[in-house]
Amino acid sequence: MAVKIAPSLLAADFAHLADDVERVAPVVDWLHLDVMDGHFVPNLSFGIPVIEALRSVTDVYFDCHIMTTNPDVYLGELAKAGISLATMHIEAVPDPTRAMERTREQGLDFGLVINPGTPFDAVAPYVERCDVILVMSVEPGYGGQSFMPEVLPKVEAAREWVESHGLRADIQVDGGVTTENAQQITSAGATVLVAGTAVFRADDPPAAVEALRRAAETDE
Ligand code: DX5
Ligand code: ZN
Repeated sequence: MAVKIAPSLLAADFAHLADDVERVAPVVDWLHLDVMDGHFVPNLSFGIPVIEALRSVTDVYFDCHIMTTNPDVYLGELAKAGISLATMHIEAVPDPTRAMERTREQGLDFGLVINPGTPFDAVAPYVERCDVILVMSVEPGYGGQSFMPEVLPKVEAAREWVESHGLRADIQVDGGVTTENAQQITSAGATVLVAGTAVFRADDPPAAVEALRRAAETDE
C-alpha cells in the first residue's frame, strides 16, 4: 500500500529554508507546514510570509497544520500564500462546519486534527467531509518528542470508520515518527506520515524520506 511521506519543516534549518525544501521536494509527497500562534499551543513557528516565499521555490503540495485559536481567520491569506490543504484542530473548532465551508470556498482541501487526549468520536461525524484526519501522536507545539503508541487504537478506529463508510479520507499521523515505528503506524491504518526530526535532522534528508517510505510500506 502506497504511503505518503510529509516532512515537517519545523525541524529544517530556518536560515536556509529554501535549500532544505528544494532538496527534499523531488522525493516527498507533501510538505507539512506547522503554523503556531503561541496561544493554542505554547510555541510560535512561522506564518503567511514564509509560506508565500516557499511557494515561489516549489510546486509541492503544502499541507498546512494550523495550530492556532480561531484557525479559520487567516484561511484567505493562507490560500493566497499557496497552501493546498488546511488541517484544523477539533479542540479549536468544536463545530467545524463553518470552518470547513470557508476552507472549501478558498478552493483548499480540508482536514481535522485530534490531540492525543481527544477521542476519535469527536471527529467521526465530519469524516465524510474531510480529505484528511490527522491523529496527533505527540502533544502539539514542539518537534523532537517521542511517539505515543497509545494513539494507535485511534488510528485503527479512523481507518475502520473510513472503510466501513466507503470514504476516501487520508489518515495522517504526526509526532515522533521514525523508521522504527513507521511500519506499526501504517499497519494501524495511516496513509500519510509526518516526520520532522527523522527527515531534516538526518545527514541525508532525501535518503531519510526514502528510508521512511520503505519502512512504512514493508509488510509485517
Ligand atoms: C508538532 C508538530 C509536528 C512536528 C513533528 O506540534 O505538529 O508536525 O513538527 O516533529 P517530529 O517529527 O520531530 O516529532
Ligand atoms: Zn504538525
